[in-house]
Amino acid sequence: KPVVLSGIQPTGGMTIGNYVGAINQWLKLQQDHDCFFMLVDLHAITVRQDPKMLRERVLDGVALYAACGIDPEKSALFVQSQVPEHAQLSWVLNCYAQMGELNRMTQFKDKSSKHSNNVNVGLFSYPVLQAADILLYQADQVPVGEDQKQHLELTRDIATRFNNLYGDVFKVPEPYIPELGARVMSLQDPLKKMSKSDENPNAYIMLLDEPKKIEKKLKKAVTDSDEQARIYFDRDEKPGVSNLLTLLSVATKRSVEDLVPEYADKMYGHLKKDTAAAVVNMIEPIQARFKEIREDQTLLDNIMRNGAEKAGARAEKTLKAVYDAVGFIPRP
Ligand code: TYM
Repeated sequence: KPVVLSGIQPTGGMTIGNYVGAINQWLKLQQDHDCFFMLVDLHAITVRQDPKMLRERVLDGVALYAACGIDPEKSALFVQSQVPEHAQLSWVLNCYAQMGELNRMTQFKDKSSKHSNNVNVGLFSYPVLQAADILLYQADQVPVGEDQKQHLELTRDIATRFNNLYGDVFKVPEPYIPELGARVMSLQDPLKKMSKSDENPNAYIMLLDEPKKIEKKLKKAVTDSDEQARIYFDRDEKPGVSNLLTLLSVATKRSVEDLVPEYADKMYGHLKKDTAAAVVNMIEPIQARFKEIREDQTLLDNIMRNGAEKAGARAEKTLKAVYDAVGFIPRP
């Protein structure tokens, strides 16, 4: 079976963008792939985190993955810091990544200007850790949203460079970016990506937002103010409407082509109302399951233990091959 790996940062909960761009793809891949899904807490500390909050957020993340339908029996659902090989491989790969290529990473540029009082070395080498995450599992496919494309290119470059020096140590992975929903846009400015770090909470929907709040946010969503308020899908001409159609499509599991004719003589208000109803309908059962799982510490421990065990077994093999390739002597 082809191998799949992906992860989300366990900070501040998950947006519907994370769901549509990533988790929704994971659910499909989980059926017939060997899947590894993690919460990247090592990545999270590249910006300052409160330790107590971080613990809570990671547990929230584990519960939320499971509530969304990531099946811990089928897939390895794990916490990055619990598999030490991520940090170990990351160091090695740091020595095969160039300052110049890391300097070009747009996420670094964004984050270092946002957190200009703490531009730490970890933030800079963040994409190298991400490369280690992926290469450790010899992943064939990496399902992510569009914003991660550049990091995947870098991962491929590092893997190829390493393989050219030492032989075929790493599988060179392919990105797996959905056709629809690879970039869910802000509800307040449909030219900007939806992000949980937006200063305006009306710009994003969190998976754990109250249904009433979701309805309100979608009602307030900025739509397009061209002369004729027609509803059709066109990311350039109709970014706001297209964003709503994307959410509606994912939430109803119906294609955009199928949905659009139904709105031929309807108004934006209808679309917003239907999208809100569909999103709430999709999210409510996730929230109910989340509550149950989150309160069951034994279950969470079991998920994390099994996940780390499965992940660790695979990661260990790759790390051994890497250590051997570069010339490290195994501990006698
Ligand atoms: P993160 O935590 O920012 O986002 C997690 C996933 O959600 C996707 N995503 C979106 N997709 C569509 N529309 C949006 N508005 C949107 N916002 C976020 C992201 O593309 C991503 O797939 N560096 C990564 C985490 C990571 C990782 C990895 C991913 C660490 N190691 C290895 C894949 C493989 C990140 O910060 O994602």
